[in-house]
Amino acid sequence: MKILIVGSGGREHAIAWKVAKSSKVTKIYCAPGNAGIAEYAECVDIGAMEFDKLAAFAKEHQIDLTVVGMDDPLVGGIVDVFEAQGLRVFGPRKNAAILEGSKAFSKDLMKKYGIPTAAYENFDDPEKALAYLETASMPIVLKADGLALGKGVLICETLEEAKEGVKSIMMDKKFGSAGNQMVIEEFMTGREVSVLSFVDGKTIRIMTSAQDHKRAQDGDKGLNTGGMGTFSPSPFYTEEVDTFCREHIYQKTVDAMAAEGRAFKGIIFFGLMLTEKGPRVLEYNARFGDPEAQVVLPRMKNDIVEVFEACVDGTLDKIELEFEDNAAVCVVLASEGYPVQYKKGFEIQGLEAFKGQEDKFVFHAGSKFADGKIVTNGGRVLGVTALGKNLKEARANAYRAAEEVDFENKYCRSDIGKAIDEA
Ligand code: AMP
Ligand code: GLY
Repeated sequence: MKILIVGSGGREHAIAWKVAKSSKVTKIYCAPGNAGIAEYAECVDIGAMEFDKLAAFAKEHQIDLTVVGMDDPLVGGIVDVFEAQGLRVFGPRKNAAILEGSKAFSKDLMKKYGIPTAAYENFDDPEKALAYLETASMPIVLKADGLALGKGVLICETLEEAKEGVKSIMMDKKFGSAGNQMVIEEFMTGREVSVLSFVDGKTIRIMTSAQDHKRAQDGDKGLNTGGMGTFSPSPFYTEEVDTFCREHIYQKTVDAMAAEGRAFKGIIFFGLMLTEKGPRVLEYNARFGDPEAQVVLPRMKNDIVEVFEACVDGTLDKIELEFEDNAAVCVVLASEGYPVQYKKGFEIQGLEAFKGQEDKFVFHAGSKFADGKIVTNGGRVLGVTALGKNLKEARANAYRAAEEVDFENKYCRSDIGKAIDEA
């Protein structure tokens, strides 16, 4: 089979690495890809939002299956464009990707179908939102409705802060049109867990759990980022939590989407918070997590292409997912200054230490070729993942491996996976 992967980050690198292991695959393309993905795939210079060009490429190169890694093209309707041209594609249609694309939609869905989540109100009028705040208790959480690169969530401690937040989201349009509507919701506390799943429209198969570290600095301080590191499995995702989520969250979400005439095929990423009152959905995403994919996929035993095909064909009930009985930790190596301001273009050294290795990997998030060298090309540059027989070992291995690569202004958190000491 010939596979086209759409995207350019560490997630798409992890997908490409896993697809390359499939016995069914003869050739992989990635659009636009990056310098690391180029080891497994022929990178094609077409942007992820250029749907017509991508579809034309898929036709011309007789691609058997296109796998979309990123949220923007999914929410924008890339799957509908491919399907209209008779092309096989893995991912939700536009009317289902709204599960990630609109937080107001997903909150209303959860309310209608009794899926546990934080109490909330939706607003499309800033005056009404401001009036509502006067009666609300603090802290409170403000969320821009649409996609905002993971930055559209504000946790406000005081009424003044919350009012400023409403102004910046809805009036100053800090996150652009993502702020045309907003959700104001109850502040919850608890540990966060990411659970990824494959869905074929009716059947859902749950992958192993993971935990992300979203803040830029040690001790969960600093600004929110796309994710500074992950570990899998999460020791806090116990059997009891799993049982609750299977009963109240996972299948219910899939059935709710189908009942709404929005059958979901692809990946549903459940962002969960384990509160005192039980697990609650913080958010849905319609794609693999990044860097969650970088710890989950290296532990997956299945041929991923078979699973992708089962989702497209509606035969996922015939597949059982299997994961290694081990652990993985991913440490993101970023450019100093990320997520605000940073320099790029520095040569990356030490990548050869990872060639052909099966227990440590370097997934490129922001890299490119320049004058025959691989240089940094983003805020998040690399995800260094290592396996171990348990989380402690995986963590030690990941930090050792992270020492083997270097570039000017390299920055990483030193406490990825430290929470496991408390488990
Ligand atoms: P989201 O994009 O909705 O996952 O929000 C980003 C981050 O904001 C989450 O990972 C949480 O850390 C935090 N967050 C979102 N909603 C809430 C909430 N209702 N209570 C507390 N923290 C939240
Ligand atoms: N790591 C969080 C996300 O992919 O949304």
